[in-house]
Amino acid sequence: MTTITITSGKGGTGKTTMAANLALSLKKLGKRVLVVDGDLNMANLTLLFDLQNSPITLEDALNGEAKIRDVIYSSYDIDVVPATIELREYDLSTLREQISKLREMYDFIVIDSAAGADETTLAAIKASDDVILVLEPTKASLADAIKMKRISERDGKRVLGFVMNKIRDRKYELGEKDASIALDLPLLVSIPFSENIAETFSFRQRAPLLVRMPRSREASYFKKLAEKISGEKFEEKKENFLQRFLKRLFKF
Ligand SMILES: Nc1ncnc2c1ncn2[C@@H]1O[C@H](COP(=O)(O)OP(=O)(O)OP(=O)(O)O)[C@@H](O)[C@H]1O
Ligand SMILES: [Mg+2]
Repeated sequence: MTTITITSGKGGTGKTTMAANLALSLKKLGKRVLVVDGDLNMANLTLLFDLQNSPITLEDALNGEAKIRDVIYSSYDIDVVPATIELREYDLSTLREQISKLREMYDFIVIDSAAGADETTLAAIKASDDVILVLEPTKASLADAIKMKRISERDGKRVLGFVMNKIRDRKYELGEKDASIALDLPLLVSIPFSENIAETFSFRQRAPLLVRMPRSREASYFKKLAEKISGEKFEEKKENFLQRFLKRLFKF
């Protein structure tokens, strides 16, 4: 079983988007998956999974006022530990211990974290085995990611690689290869800027992309990430006769 924290140096790179859709993709691969809102102050993942009205949340478990198992909710057919959307005090020092209580129940625990080196981010990293960095194609994003890599490795975590998100193919953008060399990490997946992803948090459409558009081009990026993380492949769709015939005819 593996616990993976999704983090970045800069805010808004796409961590919550990644955590939600990676978790849903791993679930589609048949894995037992939990996704945890480790960005306790902002709780965007909680909003994304429509769990803002949860009577008890991660903070209750951290403060010893609830059992962590009782803070697991099901949303869009996946297990989620939400955080509170209220301002609250909580004891971060117990996060690692609380998460470890759930280890045997799952194949993957995906933790969404805050950006930068603040204490909730550090606690989320400490609570995990592995880390994935999310970058936008800018040099500032890279510089901050390098710091997050150092912090993760200092804590003895394995940094699996990075995701380059919101690519617009502009000349001035930081290339994946340069980022990979500078970080000394493999690129896990590149994801273009997409309106379909951008509208995720819009009021009517608020649900992860894997739920709204599971067969879209965008969904395939998150599925690819899940394949890399799990080492398993999604089954190829069976082709019908006409598709096979055309494929042979045109050799594509
Ligand atoms: N590939 C993409 N194309 C277009 N929009 C995207 C893409 N990825 C994420 N977004 C959008 O960018 C915004 C920030 O994404 P998200 O909340 O996932 O980032 P974050 O890193 O979790 O931010 P924070 O640091 O505030 O927690 C959201 O509105 C999201 O829908
Ligand atoms: Mg976020």
